[in-house]
Amino acid sequence: IAKTAAAGGPTLLPEVLAFTSSLSLDRALIREDLLGSLAHLTMLSRRGIVPQEQARAIREGLVSIWDAVQAGTLQLPDEEDVHMAVESLLTSKLGPTAGALHAARSRNDQVALDLHLYVREQCAEIFTSLVKLLSSIVERAEVESSTILPSYTHRQRAMPITLSYLFAAYGAMLARDIDAFSFVLQQADASPLGVGAIAGTSLPIDRQLVRELLAFERITANGLDTVGDRDFALDYAYASSRLLVHTSRIATDFVDFASPEFGFIRLDGAIACGSSMMPQKRNPDLFELVRAKSGAGIGNLVTLLVDMKGLPSGYNRDLQEDRGPILATGPLVRSVLEILELGIGRVTFDKMRCLQAVEQDATQATDVAEALVQKGLPFRTAYQLAGTLVRACQDARVPLANVTTEMAQAVDPRLDDEVLAAARIRGAVARKTSPGGTGPDSVREQLQSLREVVTRT
Ligand code: ARG
Repeated sequence: IAKTAAAGGPTLLPEVLAFTSSLSLDRALIREDLLGSLAHLTMLSRRGIVPQEQARAIREGLVSIWDAVQAGTLQLPDEEDVHMAVESLLTSKLGPTAGALHAARSRNDQVALDLHLYVREQCAEIFTSLVKLLSSIVERAEVESSTILPSYTHRQRAMPITLSYLFAAYGAMLARDIDAFSFVLQQADASPLGVGAIAGTSLPIDRQLVRELLAFERITANGLDTVGDRDFALDYAYASSRLLVHTSRIATDFVDFASPEFGFIRLDGAIACGSSMMPQKRNPDLFELVRAKSGAGIGNLVTLLVDMKGLPSGYNRDLQEDRGPILATGPLVRSVLEILELGIGRVTFDKMRCLQAVEQDATQATDVAEALVQKGLPFRTAYQLAGTLVRACQDARVPLANVTTEMAQAVDPRLDDEVLAAARIRGAVARKTSPGGTGPDSVREQLQSLREVVTRT
């Protein structure tokens, strides 16, 4: 049956079969396909569309294929796709009885079902890896509250922060990713089976029963939309791309920090890669590749978007090209999350170098300005005064933290000892009491809500 170009027509040319086949990719969906078939069969049998005897034989056939999949012994015949391959296997076991299973079903709703199930499972897997990374980031944040380092805007030193605060920032990104995948899960939680090729069926089916058997929250609303809809896959690819952009940005921090120009971290020998020529090298290849692999994730999203954009309503064979990007996304995301967790766990921060980067500079200048504001100066005046003080320090090659009363008084008498106290580095961190800031109470709250995200996911 399967290799027939069209019902009753001649056999499909092998070149055409080879070009149009998706079996090499969609064989990965065989479990989803079998589960869908079992649910559909149960419904057909309960509604009297397939007689009980036939249904029993078909169920046994499907279960034996399932067992062979689990045992790793299944040989799939050379067919157009996994759906036809299963039907052809079933037909070789049962003869024409096998064909009863396809009543009120098309590969159009069948593939949509497989993909909904698949994306749902992938979300669950990604949640596991995301939560693991998030909780190790929270644990790390908890022990790094006394490590002070600069924060950066424009990759120039900005304000002093604790390392806990930086890790809490990474955690905030990942918490949004958990939200994004919850949305994907909700989008994928609809059963497409029963819409048939496009416009439904005249057979007395029960879509709600199939939905229940496959544990979907709802059934899709409109068959014409359903067979051409890959929005849930686009949402999945977008959530994945955005997550990979986050991991790429985190990785870039670590690539930078590992460079002697920053010198903030040391890579454990077990994760640092060498050079084939330069004997002294300890390269952060792991983090560079985490950064680079985000490209493939974005590529998957773009491939899907472009595949969809020119399609008219209804089913079009172009949709088969969704398989590459959809199937590649989950393993990519999980491998990145897992290696990043391993990598960060093997990084040690050099507390002295981190602190020196703050001490040698003037990252507390804003705190000096704010101390003047507290004495009643308008912020812009205070900003100018603090700026002049920083310039004087730079001319004298004195870090702002070491400025003397005499130097400050020579700039302006309003720069008294009380104001200069704001230039003390640990104080500059502790004073950031605003919600969302780097102050210890705020960071404690941030970590607490991240812990809640971990517990509820
Ligand atoms: N292999 C096809 C796909 O993945 C299955 C649907 C085929 N439908 C059709 N009318 N030719 O999209």
